[in-house]
Amino acid sequence: LPDGLARTPPMGFNNWNSTHCRAEFDHEMVKGIADIFVERGLKDAGYEYVNLDDCWALPERDANGKLVPDPVRFPDGIKAVADYVHAKGLKIGIYTSAGTKTCNPAGFPGALGHEESDAMQFAEWGIDYLKYDNCNNQGVDAVQRYTRMRDALRAASETTGRPIVYSICEWGQNEPWEWAADVGHLWRTTGDISDNWSSMLGIMKQNLPLAEYAGPGHWNDPDMLEVGNGGMTDTEYRTHFSMWSIMAAPLLIGSDLRTADEATFEILGNEEVIAVDQDPLGRQGAVVSADDGRWVVAKEMADGSRAVALFNESTAPQRISTTAEAVGLPAADGYRMRDLWRHEDFNTGGGISATVPGHGTVLYRLWPGAGAGSYPPAAEFGA
Ligand code: GLA
Repeated sequence: LPDGLARTPPMGFNNWNSTHCRAEFDHEMVKGIADIFVERGLKDAGYEYVNLDDCWALPERDANGKLVPDPVRFPDGIKAVADYVHAKGLKIGIYTSAGTKTCNPAGFPGALGHEESDAMQFAEWGIDYLKYDNCNNQGVDAVQRYTRMRDALRAASETTGRPIVYSICEWGQNEPWEWAADVGHLWRTTGDISDNWSSMLGIMKQNLPLAEYAGPGHWNDPDMLEVGNGGMTDTEYRTHFSMWSIMAAPLLIGSDLRTADEATFEILGNEEVIAVDQDPLGRQGAVVSADDGRWVVAKEMADGSRAVALFNESTAPQRISTTAEAVGLPAADGYRMRDLWRHEDFNTGGGISATVPGHGTVLYRLWPGAGAGSYPPAAEFGA
């Protein structure tokens, strides 16, 4: 949406990937994540939204048609957790479906036919972000359903003065990249991610060709992060985080940070990688080449530099190579080439290459001219 919100991809947390509807999804979790965002520097790194997914409500509306927070999970209601999250300088998101019920078989209420009153209720609670799902949609046209909620959110936020980021979750079924730039701030491009290599890879491959549709206020959403959930290696999680960042995807942490290990914090907190995702130019990186599982993806950055991912799809190490010219950099005598995981600079005359471990990604950022000559030659690295 061209309304000034989500000018860079949203960053934050959502409980779904770690808890689904299990009991540990509750007010203590939401507050605990907000605490950790502040204490562990993740807020300073850009993580802002603490988002509730499905199963926060009771199955029945009250006598006035209002949504009722589950009193076991949220004994003090949603407004109380929203106040807590806001007091930390963070924002809070919620979830419902553009259907009669949400996706969980327990049958929680959806907002179809209740758009205006539900949007108003969210705004009154202080909600800053809505994820709007697609289950039980009764075959009503998607553009109509998602547009009606856009208008309801706009009206509600005008009343309360609190803008609401609008996340369209219809799984790419109606090619939202073709119509949703004027409806929401981001739209899912795929089905649900799960915490394994083949799921993450498949989603990445579906989202990569959609680069031209992304930009400030209107992002492709290849679903939330699985980093830290245990089903992939740290090398694979670094690939996941690198590729989501070069695709300018929303960075919504999907692991329970209260029990996360240090490797998880190190991946999610890598500010040089986050800077690739959050670059103000708002380009989604595009595929430069993909031969035999040797992927080169490049993203133009606001300062004229390029982020370049060398991603090895195969299980064995491979040499992956490209050039400054191939990734769109202007001709120059030399380039500063920074490895965003090693945090080291190199000098290259234009060759960009690395020996990349199986399922790994080397993420570089290159600047023409700048600093060329003052760093060791690139050939020393990864040979
Ligand atoms: C759908 C969405 C998921 C999650 C669940 C909740 O599957 O795509 O991201 O929100 O519903 O039930």
